[in-house]
Amino acid sequence: MNFRQITAAERTATMFPLQAYAFMPSPWSAEEEEKYRRRMRFYETAVTLVAEEDGQTLAGVAAFRMRQNVRGLVHDMAGVASVSSHPAARRRGLVRELMHRLLRQTRDEGCAVSVLYPFRPSFYARFGFVGIPRHRTAAFAPEGLGHLLRAELPGEVERVPMAEGFDAWDGLQRRLLTERHGFAVFDAVRAAEFRDDRYWVAVARVDGEVVGAVRYRVDRHGGELAAGHLHCTGSLGRALLLQFFARHVDQVSRVVVQISTDEVPELWGTDLTVTAEGRVDFPTRGGPMARVLDMEALAGTPVGPGAITIEIPDDELIGGVWRLESVGGDLTVAKATTPSVTLSVGGFSGLLYGVLDPIEVAARGLGAVPAEAVPALASMFPRAMPYVVADF
Ligand SMILES: CC(C)(COP(=O)(O)OP(=O)(O)OC[C@H]1O[C@@H](n2cnc3c(N)ncnc32)[C@H](O)[C@@H]1OP(=O)(O)O)[C@@H](O)C(=O)NCCC(=O)NCCS
Repeated sequence: MNFRQITAAERTATMFPLQAYAFMPSPWSAEEEEKYRRRMRFYETAVTLVAEEDGQTLAGVAAFRMRQNVRGLVHDMAGVASVSSHPAARRRGLVRELMHRLLRQTRDEGCAVSVLYPFRPSFYARFGFVGIPRHRTAAFAPEGLGHLLRAELPGEVERVPMAEGFDAWDGLQRRLLTERHGFAVFDAVRAAEFRDDRYWVAVARVDGEVVGAVRYRVDRHGGELAAGHLHCTGSLGRALLLQFFARHVDQVSRVVVQISTDEVPELWGTDLTVTAEGRVDFPTRGGPMARVLDMEALAGTPVGPGAITIEIPDDELIGGVWRLESVGGDLTVAKATTPSVTLSVGGFSGLLYGVLDPIEVAARGLGAVPAEAVPALASMFPRAMPYVVADF
């Protein structure tokens, strides 16, 4: 078996048949293959690894170069995607070997964390990944926001095709990356594909500054306005975008928009009938999963007060004994001995990402946490829900 890294140009001949078989209706057409080939210019910076035997590609994995905010510190992130193997070669450990190689390589190239969307979380839990929240959706009739039609808000919303609005939409996401826990963005090469998308973008500005942006489509007169993530810097940006939705009152019967877990849409209006929904199922609508790839890169993370020595057993990348200490609110990380708590990679990642507390880590079987260790871990890594918006 030969394992190697391939270029984006090689993906059409090697990865496409595996991915098309795994993820698309099949058999596929020559046009679909040609469409994939044309998209590969957006994959130039992705790391793609394959397993080959007798000239045939049997399995492949890839990672997009991304950036992610974890508790206020922005890291290089490996966005794992394109994981597939030939049906005849499944259950032979090929993807396991490729995943280990991919995580090691991306860590060596500077990625401190990794995120993916699982077809089945238990498969990736074995590689140290832990679940983080999937976005929610809010669905409502625009008349529920009728009060906003009359509101005088100090700003304006411009509606432009994506090709024109891309820079504002993408630029706002790059700003939110620095401000919002969990937020992740693609590098410029991968992100450029969205410029060609057939979407409208509504851009909210106050004194020329972008404070909100959302992409959307309208399916038909009297139908649905389906929007992506409601990106905003604060309540004024949100109010301007909601006011824009409200102006579609005689045009569509429903607005559906993607929101973070901390949005509370029933508070957007007095008579607003709204369904806020978080839907996770497999294999197509998994919640994202995350893991730490590099402990020392976490130094400087804003954390609560406390100090603790943890052991992470059996992991090539972050295994070992680590002293974690808050010095003036910033995390320091040093190699150590005599741990007071044992955490799996998933258990530690769950604490760092703010999705699990120490009791939940123990209850989920992701670590052995003695009662004395709970207060320090709970204080240093308080709950903080990450908001991952990039789908890949
Ligand atoms: C999911 C998929 C990539 C697994 O590939 P594979 O080559 O069979 O994986 P491996 O043989 O390397 O399996 C690694 C380990 O996971 C286990 N495993 C494989 N498929 C599994 C599954 N569906 N559920 C749970 N465990 C699974 C294997 O038994 C193996 O265990 P081991 O480490 O104890 O030996 C492959 O089945 C596939 O292409 N599926 C369709 C596409 C898809 O869903 N891709 C994932 C997108 S996120």
